[in-house]
Amino acid sequence: MAETIAVLPGDGIGPEVTHAAAAILRFVRPDVRCVEGLAGAVALERGLGALPDETRSLCDRSAAILFGSVGHPDYDGKPLSERPEFALFLLRRDYELFANLRPVRVFPGLEDESTLKPDLVRGLDLVVVRELTGGIYYGTPKEQRCIDGVDEAVDTMIYRAPEVERIARVAFELARTRKKRLTSVDKQNILETSRLWRRVVERVGLDYRDVSCEHLLVDNAAMQLVRRPGHFDVIVTENMFGDILSDEAAILTGSIGTLPSASLGTRGTPGKQFGLYEPVGGTAPDIAGRNVANPTAAILSAAMLLRHSLADDANATRIERAVEETYAAGARTAEFVHDASTALSTTAFADAVAARL
Ligand code: IPM
Ligand code: MN
Repeated sequence: MAETIAVLPGDGIGPEVTHAAAAILRFVRPDVRCVEGLAGAVALERGLGALPDETRSLCDRSAAILFGSVGHPDYDGKPLSERPEFALFLLRRDYELFANLRPVRVFPGLEDESTLKPDLVRGLDLVVVRELTGGIYYGTPKEQRCIDGVDEAVDTMIYRAPEVERIARVAFELARTRKKRLTSVDKQNILETSRLWRRVVERVGLDYRDVSCEHLLVDNAAMQLVRRPGHFDVIVTENMFGDILSDEAAILTGSIGTLPSASLGTRGTPGKQFGLYEPVGGTAPDIAGRNVANPTAAILSAAMLLRHSLADDANATRIERAVEETYAAGARTAEFVHDASTALSTTAFADAVAARL
Protein backbone atom coordinates (compact mmCIF):
# COMPACT_ATOMS: atom_id res chain seq x y z
CA MET A 1 0.00 0.00 0.00
CA ALA A 2 1.25 3.49 -0.85
CA GLU A 3 2.41 5.45 2.18
CA THR A 4 0.74 8.80 2.74
CA ILE A 5 2.80 11.84 3.70
CA ALA A 6 0.99 14.84 5.18
CA VAL A 7 2.46 17.97 3.59
CA LEU A 8 1.76 21.06 5.71
CA PRO A 9 3.48 24.03 4.03
CA GLY A 10 2.20 26.67 6.49
CA ASP A 11 3.16 30.32 6.24
CA GLY A 12 5.80 32.70 4.91
CA ILE A 13 8.43 30.88 2.88
CA GLY A 14 6.94 27.56 4.06
CA PRO A 15 4.98 26.84 0.86
CA GLU A 16 7.89 27.62 -1.48
CA VAL A 17 10.49 25.49 0.29
CA THR A 18 8.07 22.68 1.17
CA HIS A 19 6.82 22.33 -2.38
CA ALA A 20 10.43 22.15 -3.57
CA ALA A 21 11.14 19.42 -1.00
CA ALA A 22 7.95 17.48 -1.78
CA ALA A 23 8.87 17.50 -5.47
CA ILE A 24 12.23 15.92 -4.64
CA LEU A 25 10.56 13.39 -2.37
CA ARG A 26 8.17 12.39 -5.14
CA PHE A 27 11.03 12.28 -7.61
CA VAL A 28 12.91 9.62 -5.64
CA ARG A 29 9.75 7.88 -4.40
CA PRO A 30 6.93 8.18 -6.97
CA ASP A 31 5.00 5.57 -4.95
CA VAL A 32 4.54 7.93 -2.00
CA ARG A 33 1.26 9.85 -1.77
CA CYS A 34 1.75 13.48 -0.71
CA VAL A 35 -1.46 15.07 0.58
CA GLU A 36 -1.54 18.74 1.48
CA GLY A 37 -3.20 20.18 4.56
CA LEU A 38 -3.65 23.57 6.23
CA ALA A 39 -1.76 24.62 9.36
CA GLY A 40 -0.79 27.97 10.85
CA ALA A 41 -1.90 31.41 9.72
CA VAL A 42 -3.24 30.06 6.43
CA ALA A 43 -5.76 28.07 8.47
CA LEU A 44 -6.56 30.92 10.88
CA GLU A 45 -7.23 33.24 7.91
CA ARG A 46 -9.97 30.86 6.80
CA GLY A 47 -11.66 31.05 10.19
CA LEU A 48 -10.31 27.64 11.25
CA GLY A 49 -8.04 26.80 14.17
CA ALA A 50 -4.27 26.77 13.63
CA LEU A 51 -4.52 22.97 13.31
CA PRO A 52 -7.91 22.17 11.74
CA ASP A 53 -9.56 18.79 12.40
CA GLU A 54 -9.15 17.84 8.77
CA THR A 55 -5.39 18.37 9.02
CA ARG A 56 -5.25 16.34 12.18
CA SER A 57 -7.04 13.40 10.59
CA LEU A 58 -4.72 13.65 7.57
CA CYS A 59 -1.77 13.37 9.99
CA ASP A 60 -3.45 10.44 11.77
CA ARG A 61 -3.47 8.41 8.58
CA SER A 62 -0.01 9.47 7.42
CA ALA A 63 3.39 7.85 7.90
CA ALA A 64 4.99 11.25 8.51
CA ILE A 65 4.50 15.00 8.27
CA LEU A 66 6.55 17.21 5.98
CA PHE A 67 6.16 20.61 7.57
CA GLY A 68 7.07 24.11 6.34
CA SER A 69 6.91 26.86 8.92
CA VAL A 70 4.20 28.72 10.83
CA GLY A 71 3.91 32.27 12.11
CA HIS A 72 2.69 35.66 10.98
CA PRO A 73 3.28 39.17 12.37
CA ASP A 74 -0.50 39.83 12.34
CA TYR A 75 -0.86 37.56 15.35
CA ASP A 76 1.82 39.14 17.56
CA GLY A 77 0.36 39.78 20.99
CA LYS A 78 -2.37 37.15 20.65
CA PRO A 79 -2.54 34.28 23.16
CA LEU A 80 -0.79 31.08 22.09
CA SER A 81 -4.03 29.25 21.30
CA GLU A 82 -4.90 31.91 18.68
CA ARG A 83 -1.47 32.01 17.10
CA PRO A 84 -0.18 30.11 14.03
CA GLU A 85 2.56 28.51 16.18
CA PHE A 86 -0.17 26.68 18.09
CA ALA A 87 -0.28 24.18 15.21
CA LEU A 88 3.27 23.03 15.96
CA PHE A 89 2.63 23.13 19.68
CA LEU A 90 -0.32 20.75 19.26
CA LEU A 91 1.35 18.41 16.76
CA ARG A 92 4.39 17.97 18.99
CA ARG A 93 2.29 17.43 22.09
CA ASP A 94 -0.46 15.23 20.68
CA TYR A 95 1.85 12.93 18.72
CA GLU A 96 4.35 12.97 21.61
CA LEU A 97 7.20 14.01 19.32
CA PHE A 98 9.66 14.34 22.17
CA ALA A 99 12.94 13.89 20.32
CA ASN A 100 13.98 16.74 18.06
CA LEU A 101 17.13 16.07 16.03
CA ARG A 102 18.80 19.09 14.48
CA PRO A 103 21.93 18.16 12.53
CA VAL A 104 24.29 21.03 11.78
CA ARG A 105 26.73 20.56 8.91
CA VAL A 106 28.89 22.99 7.01
CA PHE A 107 29.03 21.99 3.37
CA PRO A 108 32.46 22.05 1.73
CA GLY A 109 32.82 25.37 -0.07
CA LEU A 110 30.53 27.26 2.30
CA GLU A 111 33.09 27.82 5.09
CA ASP A 112 33.61 31.41 4.00
CA GLU A 113 29.90 32.16 4.43
CA SER A 114 30.01 31.62 8.17
CA THR A 115 30.29 34.69 10.38
CA LEU A 116 33.04 32.75 12.17
CA LYS A 117 36.53 32.25 10.80
CA PRO A 118 36.43 29.53 8.12
CA ASP A 119 38.94 27.36 10.03
CA LEU A 120 36.60 27.16 12.99
CA VAL A 121 33.69 25.73 11.00
CA ARG A 122 35.42 23.65 8.31
CA GLY A 123 33.98 20.14 8.38
CA LEU A 124 31.60 21.05 11.21
CA ASP A 125 29.20 18.20 11.90
CA LEU A 126 27.18 18.16 15.10
CA VAL A 127 23.63 17.31 16.15
CA VAL A 128 21.48 19.13 18.67
CA VAL A 129 19.06 16.72 20.37
CA ARG A 130 16.35 18.92 21.81
CA GLU A 131 13.68 17.67 24.22
CA LEU A 132 10.49 18.82 22.55
CA THR A 133 7.41 18.04 24.61
CA GLY A 134 8.29 19.15 28.12
CA GLY A 135 9.85 21.97 30.10
CA ILE A 136 8.70 25.56 30.05
CA TYR A 137 6.87 25.23 26.73
CA TYR A 138 4.25 22.91 28.20
CA GLY A 139 4.32 23.21 32.01
CA THR A 140 1.26 24.59 33.79
CA PRO A 141 0.28 27.03 35.17
CA LYS A 142 0.98 29.02 32.05
CA GLU A 143 -1.03 32.21 31.97
CA GLN A 144 -1.35 35.95 32.27
CA ARG A 145 -3.45 37.20 35.16
CA CYS A 146 -4.15 40.20 37.29
CA ILE A 147 -3.56 39.89 41.03
CA ASP A 148 -4.52 42.82 43.28
CA GLY A 149 -4.61 45.13 40.28
CA VAL A 150 -1.11 44.10 39.09
CA ASP A 151 -0.65 42.26 35.81
CA GLU A 152 1.57 39.24 36.02
CA ALA A 153 2.43 36.22 33.93
CA VAL A 154 3.69 32.76 34.74
CA ASP A 155 5.30 29.93 32.78
CA THR A 156 6.22 26.70 34.49
CA MET A 157 9.38 24.72 33.86
CA ILE A 158 8.82 21.13 34.89
CA TYR A 159 10.51 17.83 33.99
CA ARG A 160 9.77 14.34 35.15
CA ALA A 161 12.62 11.84 35.32
CA PRO A 162 11.19 9.52 32.63
CA GLU A 163 11.03 12.45 30.17
CA VAL A 164 14.70 13.20 30.77
CA GLU A 165 15.62 9.54 30.60
CA ARG A 166 14.03 8.89 27.22
CA ILE A 167 15.63 11.90 25.52
CA ALA A 168 18.99 11.05 27.13
CA ARG A 169 18.74 7.55 25.66
CA VAL A 170 18.06 8.96 22.20
CA ALA A 171 21.14 11.17 22.52
CA PHE A 172 23.44 8.43 23.86
CA GLU A 173 22.29 6.03 21.13
CA LEU A 174 22.98 8.68 18.49
CA ALA A 175 26.40 9.51 19.97
CA ARG A 176 27.23 5.82 19.80
CA THR A 177 26.80 5.89 16.01
CA ARG A 178 29.01 9.01 15.73
CA LYS A 179 32.12 10.24 17.57
CA LYS A 180 30.86 8.92 20.92
CA ARG A 181 30.95 12.38 22.51
CA LEU A 182 27.90 13.74 24.26
CA THR A 183 27.49 17.19 25.78
CA SER A 184 24.51 17.64 28.08
CA VAL A 185 23.50 21.26 28.57
CA ASP A 186 21.67 22.54 31.64
CA LYS A 187 21.61 25.35 34.21
CA GLN A 188 22.11 23.23 37.29
CA ASN A 189 23.66 26.06 39.32
CA ILE A 190 20.23 27.73 39.39
CA LEU A 191 17.43 25.44 38.23
CA GLU A 192 15.98 22.45 40.06
CA THR A 193 14.85 20.97 36.74
CA SER A 194 18.49 21.09 35.63
CA ARG A 195 19.72 19.29 38.74
CA LEU A 196 17.23 16.51 37.99
CA TRP A 197 18.29 16.61 34.34
CA ARG A 198 21.99 16.19 35.17
CA ARG A 199 21.34 13.40 37.68
CA VAL A 200 19.23 11.43 35.21
CA VAL A 201 21.66 11.93 32.31
CA GLU A 202 24.50 10.67 34.52
CA ARG A 203 22.50 7.62 35.52
CA VAL A 204 21.58 6.80 31.90
CA GLY A 205 25.26 7.29 31.02
CA LEU A 206 26.12 4.22 33.11
CA ASP A 207 24.50 2.16 30.35
CA TYR A 208 26.71 3.87 27.74
CA ARG A 209 30.21 3.68 29.14
CA ASP A 210 31.64 3.76 25.62
CA VAL A 211 30.27 7.30 25.16
CA SER A 212 32.05 10.16 26.91
CA CYS A 213 29.58 12.55 28.50
CA GLU A 214 30.31 16.08 29.69
CA HIS A 215 27.97 18.63 31.23
CA LEU A 216 27.97 22.32 30.34
CA LEU A 217 25.97 25.18 31.76
CA VAL A 218 23.85 26.73 29.03
CA ASP A 219 25.53 30.14 29.12
CA ASN A 220 28.94 28.53 28.74
CA ALA A 221 27.61 26.21 26.02
CA ALA A 222 26.34 29.22 24.05
CA MET A 223 29.82 30.69 24.24
CA GLN A 224 31.70 27.48 23.41
CA LEU A 225 29.50 27.00 20.34
CA VAL A 226 30.97 30.10 18.74
CA ARG A 227 34.42 29.74 20.32
CA ARG A 228 35.19 26.15 19.31
CA PRO A 229 32.21 24.64 17.52
CA GLY A 230 34.33 21.69 16.34
CA HIS A 231 34.46 20.46 19.94
CA PHE A 232 30.86 19.29 19.77
CA ASP A 233 29.45 16.03 18.46
CA VAL A 234 26.03 15.43 20.03
CA ILE A 235 24.43 18.05 22.28
CA VAL A 236 21.41 17.08 24.37
CA THR A 237 19.32 19.65 26.16
CA GLU A 238 15.86 20.64 27.35
CA ASN A 239 13.22 22.30 25.22
CA MET A 240 13.92 26.03 25.50
CA PHE A 241 17.72 25.79 25.75
CA GLY A 242 17.55 23.59 22.65
CA ASP A 243 15.40 26.13 20.82
CA ILE A 244 17.94 28.87 21.45
CA LEU A 245 21.13 26.85 20.96
CA SER A 246 19.90 25.28 17.74
CA ASP A 247 19.39 28.67 16.10
CA GLU A 248 22.88 29.63 17.23
CA ALA A 249 24.32 26.36 15.93
CA ALA A 250 22.42 26.75 12.67
CA ILE A 251 23.95 30.08 11.79
CA LEU A 252 27.47 28.66 12.15
CA THR A 253 26.84 27.33 8.64
CA GLY A 254 26.32 30.82 7.25
CA SER A 255 22.59 30.43 6.66
CA ILE A 256 19.76 29.17 8.81
CA GLY A 257 18.20 28.07 5.52
CA THR A 258 20.33 24.92 5.40
CA LEU A 259 19.29 23.22 8.64
CA PRO A 260 16.75 20.39 8.65
CA SER A 261 15.13 18.72 11.63
CA ALA A 262 13.27 15.59 12.60
CA SER A 263 10.86 15.35 15.51
CA LEU A 264 10.31 11.75 16.51
CA GLY A 265 8.04 10.18 19.06
CA THR A 266 6.86 6.91 20.40
CA ARG A 267 4.84 5.66 17.44
CA GLY A 268 6.43 3.10 15.11
CA THR A 269 9.70 1.20 15.13
CA PRO A 270 13.23 2.42 14.28
CA GLY A 271 13.32 3.45 10.62
CA LYS A 272 9.52 3.36 10.51
CA GLN A 273 8.80 5.97 13.12
CA PHE A 274 6.06 8.53 12.81
CA GLY A 275 7.71 11.94 12.71
CA LEU A 276 7.46 15.57 11.75
CA TYR A 277 10.16 17.04 9.51
CA GLU A 278 10.74 20.75 9.20
CA PRO A 279 13.38 23.38 8.49
CA VAL A 280 14.86 24.90 11.66
CA GLY A 281 14.54 28.42 10.25
CA GLY A 282 11.24 30.25 10.44
CA THR A 283 8.77 31.84 8.05
CA ALA A 284 11.13 34.66 6.91
CA PRO A 285 8.20 37.02 6.09
CA ASP A 286 10.60 39.57 4.54
CA ILE A 287 11.41 37.26 1.62
CA ALA A 288 8.20 35.21 1.45
CA GLY A 289 6.51 34.72 -1.91
CA ARG A 290 9.52 35.86 -3.97
CA ASN A 291 10.99 32.46 -4.87
CA VAL A 292 14.32 33.41 -3.30
CA ALA A 293 14.32 31.36 -0.09
CA ASN A 294 16.86 28.57 0.30
CA PRO A 295 15.07 25.20 0.06
CA THR A 296 18.06 23.22 1.42
CA ALA A 297 16.66 22.78 4.94
CA ALA A 298 13.33 21.54 3.58
CA ILE A 299 15.00 19.18 1.11
CA LEU A 300 17.25 17.75 3.82
CA SER A 301 14.20 17.41 6.08
CA ALA A 302 12.61 15.25 3.37
CA ALA A 303 15.79 13.14 3.42
CA MET A 304 15.42 12.70 7.17
CA LEU A 305 11.79 11.69 6.60
CA LEU A 306 12.92 8.95 4.22
CA ARG A 307 15.47 7.70 6.72
CA HIS A 308 13.40 7.74 9.90
CA SER A 309 9.82 7.21 8.72
CA LEU A 310 10.10 5.26 5.46
CA ALA A 311 13.16 3.14 6.33
CA ASP A 312 14.72 4.36 3.08
CA ASP A 313 18.29 5.16 3.97
CA ALA A 314 19.44 4.75 0.38
CA ASN A 315 17.29 7.58 -0.97
CA ALA A 316 17.99 9.74 2.10
CA THR A 317 21.72 9.45 1.47
CA ARG A 318 21.17 10.03 -2.23
CA ILE A 319 19.43 13.34 -1.56
CA GLU A 320 22.05 14.44 0.96
CA ARG A 321 24.82 13.72 -1.55
CA ALA A 322 22.99 15.58 -4.29
CA VAL A 323 22.67 18.66 -2.05
CA GLU A 324 26.34 18.47 -1.15
CA GLU A 325 27.34 18.17 -4.82
CA THR A 326 25.08 21.05 -5.75
CA TYR A 327 26.93 23.30 -3.32
CA ALA A 328 30.29 21.92 -4.38
CA ALA A 329 29.40 22.86 -7.97
CA GLY A 330 28.93 26.47 -6.83
CA ALA A 331 25.14 26.74 -6.80
CA ARG A 332 24.00 29.36 -4.29
CA THR A 333 20.72 30.95 -3.26
CA ALA A 334 20.43 34.69 -2.63
CA GLU A 335 21.56 34.87 1.00
CA PHE A 336 24.97 33.48 0.03
CA VAL A 337 25.79 35.71 -2.92
CA HIS A 338 26.84 39.32 -3.05
CA ASP A 339 25.91 39.78 -6.68
CA ALA A 340 22.18 39.06 -6.84
CA SER A 341 22.27 38.28 -10.56
CA THR A 342 24.19 35.03 -9.88
CA ALA A 343 21.76 33.75 -7.24
CA LEU A 344 19.56 30.77 -7.92
CA SER A 345 15.88 30.98 -7.10
CA THR A 346 14.21 28.47 -4.77
CA THR A 347 12.94 26.42 -7.68
CA ALA A 348 16.19 26.67 -9.66
CA PHE A 349 18.22 25.43 -6.68
CA ALA A 350 15.81 22.52 -6.16
CA ASP A 351 16.04 21.70 -9.88
CA ALA A 352 19.83 21.72 -9.59
CA VAL A 353 19.58 19.19 -6.75
CA ALA A 354 17.11 17.05 -8.69
CA ALA A 355 19.45 17.06 -11.69
CA ARG A 356 22.11 15.35 -9.55
CA LEU A 357 19.83 12.58 -8.32
C1 IPM B 1 11.39 25.98 16.44
C2 IPM B 1 10.51 27.18 16.44
C3 IPM B 1 9.30 26.90 17.31
C4 IPM B 1 9.78 26.65 18.70
C5 IPM B 1 8.21 27.99 17.26
C6 IPM B 1 7.77 28.32 15.86
C7 IPM B 1 7.03 27.61 18.12
O1 IPM B 1 11.20 28.30 16.88
O2 IPM B 1 10.94 24.90 16.01
O3 IPM B 1 12.56 26.08 16.83
O4 IPM B 1 9.97 27.59 19.49
O5 IPM B 1 9.97 25.50 19.06
MN1 MN C 1 13.33 27.96 17.22
